[in-house]
Amino acid sequence: MTKAKDWNASQYLKFENERTLPTRNLLDRVPLSSPKRIIDLGCGPGNSTSVLATRYPDAKITGLDSSPDMIKKAQTVLPERDFHVADLTTYKPEAGDAVDLFFSSAVFHWLTADDRIAVIRRLLEPQAPGSVFAIQVPNNLSEPVHVLMRETAAEGPWAGKLAGVQRNELESVQVMYDRLKPFCGEVHVWETSYYHSVEGPEAVVEWVKGAGLKPFVDRLEGGEREAFLEAYLEKIKRAYPVSVDGRVLFKFPRLFMVAVK
Ligand SMILES: C[S@@+](CC[C@H](N)C(=O)[O-])C[C@H]1O[C@@H](n2cnc3c(N)ncnc32)[C@H](O)[C@@H]1O
Repeated sequence: MTKAKDWNASQYLKFENERTLPTRNLLDRVPLSSPKRIIDLGCGPGNSTSVLATRYPDAKITGLDSSPDMIKKAQTVLPERDFHVADLTTYKPEAGDAVDLFFSSAVFHWLTADDRIAVIRRLLEPQAPGSVFAIQVPNNLSEPVHVLMRETAAEGPWAGKLAGVQRNELESVQVMYDRLKPFCGEVHVWETSYYHSVEGPEAVVEWVKGAGLKPFVDRLEGGEREAFLEAYLEKIKRAYPVSVDGRVLFKFPRLFMVAVK
């Protein structure tokens, strides 16, 4: 199977305000007034790091991401902060680096359920009581935008190439809670559905091209990629009605979790 391509920071940032809103909502629930050390796991183009830096200007903040394009963009946006290309499934802070807050916005859904819990345990367990691990993830695999992505993948001449391309399902909240609680003093979980008003059905497709659609279109080239996108757009047009103002309401459920050691 073709290797997934690098992320594209400019495609991702086409909906920067909408994508950064859940980051702000997550940070609002982090129970820390002046953390000294913060790691932004999967910092992308630095949008989540900027939110952290605004709320905690005196903290030492490091942003990590496995995408070189994302890290390059983040370094341009926040040159005074520290950014590294790294895979969070293997990343470990240096010995003696006491971290108050591990923050990860729109990243952990790309990991397997086992990796999600293992990463949180490995990073949070050695930290002092009161340290926080905060994540938010899209919880939208049952939404038309994802159902139709899978349907389009299964129906076209590309079906063979796209067989088995699937983002991992999230574990249930009960499972997540039961696996985190033994080493955390508090675990808070909540869901929010955003209804983003976007320009039209084409904007829904542009949005997911920046993230959720990547595993599918990364495996297609040229005309085949274009044909896939056209077939997908036709389905999206039927699933998302046009509002009174000519725009489209794009429903986007997300799951949030704040664990305190
Ligand atoms: C949807 S973006 C999130 C960017 C930003 N945190 C935000 O709040 O918008 C997801 C990012 O996770 C990164 N990512 C995915 N898997 C990763 C991994 N195993 N290690 C590090 N970064 C990863 C991707 O490269 C991408 O930049």
